[in-house]
Amino acid sequence: DWTPDSFVEETVDALKAQIGEDKVVLGLSGGVDSSVAAMLLHKAIGKNLYCIFVNNGLLRKNEFTDVLEQYKGMGLNVKGVDASARFLDALAGLSDPEQKRKAIGRVFIEVFDDEAHQIQGVNWLAQGTIYPDVIESVSATGGPSATIKSHHNVGGLPDFMKLKIVEPLKALFKDEVRRVGASMGMEKDLLGRHPFPGPGLAIRILGDITPEKVAILQEVDAVFIGELKKSGLYDKVWQAGAILLPVNSVGVMGDERTYEKCVALRAVESTDGMTADWVNLPYEFLQKVSNNIINKVKGVNRVVYDISSKPPATIEWE
Ligand code: XMP
Repeated sequence: DWTPDSFVEETVDALKAQIGEDKVVLGLSGGVDSSVAAMLLHKAIGKNLYCIFVNNGLLRKNEFTDVLEQYKGMGLNVKGVDASARFLDALAGLSDPEQKRKAIGRVFIEVFDDEAHQIQGVNWLAQGTIYPDVIESVSATGGPSATIKSHHNVGGLPDFMKLKIVEPLKALFKDEVRRVGASMGMEKDLLGRHPFPGPGLAIRILGDITPEKVAILQEVDAVFIGELKKSGLYDKVWQAGAILLPVNSVGVMGDERTYEKCVALRAVESTDGMTADWVNLPYEFLQKVSNNIINKVKGVNRVVYDISSKPPATIEWE
């Protein structure tokens, strides 16, 4: 019978046998899968697991520092790499969604390759791949495999991709990954975290990306997610976030006419992201979030709620 405890025990033994005294590099994303994969490997090989957590400048507000601290608290051998400027430079002037994804994928690979080179004698690349990723191996959403493919076509294979691959979660579904994490004592807020796309806020800022837009969206998103947590709704929602629209609209503030940004809020129910329904959030809740956003976030004067389901809409707007 499959239980999380027996899975952990067997996987840790298998990893020890497979890896021995070798060194392993793993990219942490802040998400559940890479974090659980790291915990398993850490149990098996300790300091020989070298984790790299890249800040692409497109994460949620305070996410990089908070999650990095959390990883350190878990005892992981982790290096935080703030490459925000490199990503934002590469994105400057791009407004096509697929071009933005490609630029982010390319810079990620460059940054990760630079970091992996600094680890002497590394033999293995670990990944938090789960079973659904295996089935969808050529991901239509531009996930890691699609990114790597397009890179491969452009230039040579980066050195870290010539490493041997270890994927301890390859046979598990998401709920099983969460149970494995829980059985190893992973903190609840890390385990219950909503999915977040690799390209981050870049695909929630419609059109071109500037540091100012990122800062505005981080504030809006923080208000929305903060209120979801406060009201106990966060765990009832599969994924939520805010979208910065490339639209200004007229408003009034005191005696002044304003002409500022509009944001959309999105919250969906889903099991795997393939289909999704918008969540019927209470009006009082939406009212509070809208007031807080407009009062607290400079540059935003209008909030709308996305009531589209997937299909035919997608979860992300880009
Ligand atoms: P869509 O927008 O396709 O999203 O309905 C389905 C799920 O996939 C996530 N998503 C991505 N994840 N890279 C990722 O790592 C991407 O380019 C990407 N695009 C969408 C999205 O957040 C949702 O959970």
